[in-house]
Amino acid sequence: MERAMRAGIKTDKRGYVIERDPMWDLVDDPKVIVEIGSHRGYTAYRALVNTDADVYCVDPWEDYKAPDCPGGYEDMDLTFQQWNETMQPYLDKRVWALRGTSLVISREFDLPIDLLYIDGDHSVNGCLLDLRKWTPKVRPGGVVVGDNYELSNVQKAVARFRRNVNVGWWLYKKWKFPACKQFMFRIPR
Ligand SMILES: C[S@@+](CC[C@H](N)C(=O)[O-])C[C@H]1O[C@@H](n2cnc3c(N)ncnc32)[C@H](O)[C@@H]1O
Repeated sequence: MERAMRAGIKTDKRGYVIERDPMWDLVDDPKVIVEIGSHRGYTAYRALVNTDADVYCVDPWEDYKAPDCPGGYEDMDLTFQQWNETMQPYLDKRVWALRGTSLVISREFDLPIDLLYIDGDHSVNGCLLDLRKWTPKVRPGGVVVGDNYELSNVQKAVARFRRNVNVGWWLYKKWKFPACKQFMFRIPR
């Protein structure tokens, strides 16, 4: 947050980034947004302030070592507490924590998704699993965005996924914030 404020990125009174990036304009009036891997909820919070959608955040909030974070994430109970603080005053009104892995939650989640944001397990198999399990839940015309396309694991997962799936269009872009590359594609109508 401090980094964002120093960079002149728009934040709200509590210091959370609310800068509107092009992701929120990919789908007209989204009703259901799902984020795989929510951590402290910074992206989900931007979804809440930039759209009128309901936002579902899938994350086990359990300690684990990630390829993009080799030291492992810090105390995840504390992180979940911070997620809950971030989400005030939207909690359980427009945003829900679905606490569990992407695989487990994918077995239960059955709402048609307008915008799917993948930012969970960044291993090749983890990212591929997210793409395979969750993309079929995105409605025609809906969009899938994935973070950290700068990582070779994510590039490999996307390349493997594309071998067997015919989707509308693909691109990746480096936006002002977050400073990561993101892949995205639209489900054909
Ligand atoms: C890079 S952080 C997410 C950051 C968040 N999207 C944001 O914009 O602030 C990755 C998160 O993915 C979660 N994660 C790891 N494996 C997962 C899995 N199999 N299913 C769902 N979430 C997972 C981790 O617990 C961690 O909180």
